[in-house]
Amino acid sequence: MRMRRRRRKTMARSSVVVPNLVDPKSYLDHDMLEVWRVLRAQDPVHWHTETSEGPGFWVVSRYDDIVRVLRDDVNFTSEKGNVLATMLKGGDMGAGSMLAVSDGNYHTSMRKLLLEAFSPRSVAGVERHVRRIAKQLIVEAIEKGECDFARDIASAIPLETICDLLDIPQGDRQEVAKLTKSALASDYENPEAHADMAARSAIVVYFQNLVAERRKAPGTDPISLMATAEVDGRRLKDLDIVLNCYSLIMGGDETSRLAMIGAVRAFIQNPDQWRALKDRESSVDVAGEEVLRWTTPAMHFGRTATADISLRDRTIRAGDLVTLWLVSGNRDEAVFQNPDRFDITRSPNRHLALGYGRHFCLGAYLGRIEIRAMLDGLRAFVGAIRQARPERWIYSNFLTGMSSLPVVLERDPAPAVGWEE
Ligand code: HEM
Repeated sequence: MRMRRRRRKTMARSSVVVPNLVDPKSYLDHDMLEVWRVLRAQDPVHWHTETSEGPGFWVVSRYDDIVRVLRDDVNFTSEKGNVLATMLKGGDMGAGSMLAVSDGNYHTSMRKLLLEAFSPRSVAGVERHVRRIAKQLIVEAIEKGECDFARDIASAIPLETICDLLDIPQGDRQEVAKLTKSALASDYENPEAHADMAARSAIVVYFQNLVAERRKAPGTDPISLMATAEVDGRRLKDLDIVLNCYSLIMGGDETSRLAMIGAVRAFIQNPDQWRALKDRESSVDVAGEEVLRWTTPAMHFGRTATADISLRDRTIRAGDLVTLWLVSGNRDEAVFQNPDRFDITRSPNRHLALGYGRHFCLGAYLGRIEIRAMLDGLRAFVGAIRQARPERWIYSNFLTGMSSLPVVLERDPAPAVGWEE
């Protein structure tokens, strides 16, 4: 009854035809920027009707409303999942264990522990390595002539970085990379394929063994920290640690990769901004923030309401699923001037690409290091970027970006300026 009432109200107020947001195909078939624009203007707290995949859910598209929900951890929880895929299934198997889908004291305590390993001081060595790899891959790509920026450059950096952070032995890295790629097969290769469960299980087994080793001989990496410390008054079980390792690998790999690929395409499409980068009209720090806003690799995150609460003139009921479209908030004309312009000098740039509030991205510093290293490498060694063949977009209702971007990186004949390792 309640759902029927809501549905009628929605149809009356919204002239926009909202595609099925659960279906990954919708993001390839529709002009989603236009969909978000109209939703922000006409129905900013929109009720999405149920689909074959699960119940209906709220679609929040304005910046201020997204922030309001993300900062309210009293009336909203992450423990019933924080992305559509798990929320629609009724929950996440990592709930109460994996940082991103836990709340309360456990979350606070676990986050404090992991932040030690993610602090700028701890990742200084990782940063030097990222810059070395970025330079090496860019220089190799220039020499090769044409390359696939996604496959040959962007895919190597984030995984290598997170492996550095977790102190994964060099000899295992190729296997970890292979398994990660297989586990994401549905997003990257064959839209019809189901995610590769075997690869996921293999990653879990791999980390189980690593946790056992770190318990015996701990270092200063996040796995050792989790293996030896108490969180919210208890020692973590192997499964808690394994789930968190898995989420660090998955969370840290794809998002940064998609941001870097999106940056290159944005420069191809906006040659004035490439010029501005080359001419140092903006620092790589400021430019990196615009890359994050522009690409917003994680389109949405979600919460479940724990109490009845009003948002604008809508009443969200306890138990309702609420999705927050960062990809729309980052183009909100009420917050950003000329939101549809890629402007590497944009400042301030209070984008939501890394989230907001208590679940703000734990890997933000690391992700930013990777993007900056890439921008710095491109501007130091590349004179011009050309797209060689059409790009391919990923198939997902959660992430957005490209899995293939064939380009030609032309050498800058001038000596590299300002590159430090
Ligand atoms: C949380 C985006 C890189 C690990 C988040 C959230 C967003 C986000 C939007 C908030 C989720 C929520 O509110 O439910 C991104 C983007 C990245 C990036 C766009 C790259 C450009 C990374 C990296 C790592 C990482 C490199 C790890 C190595 C995490 C973790 C959380 C998180 C563990 C959960 C934090 C918590 O719940 O307290 N990320 N992320 N992310 N991210 Fe990232």
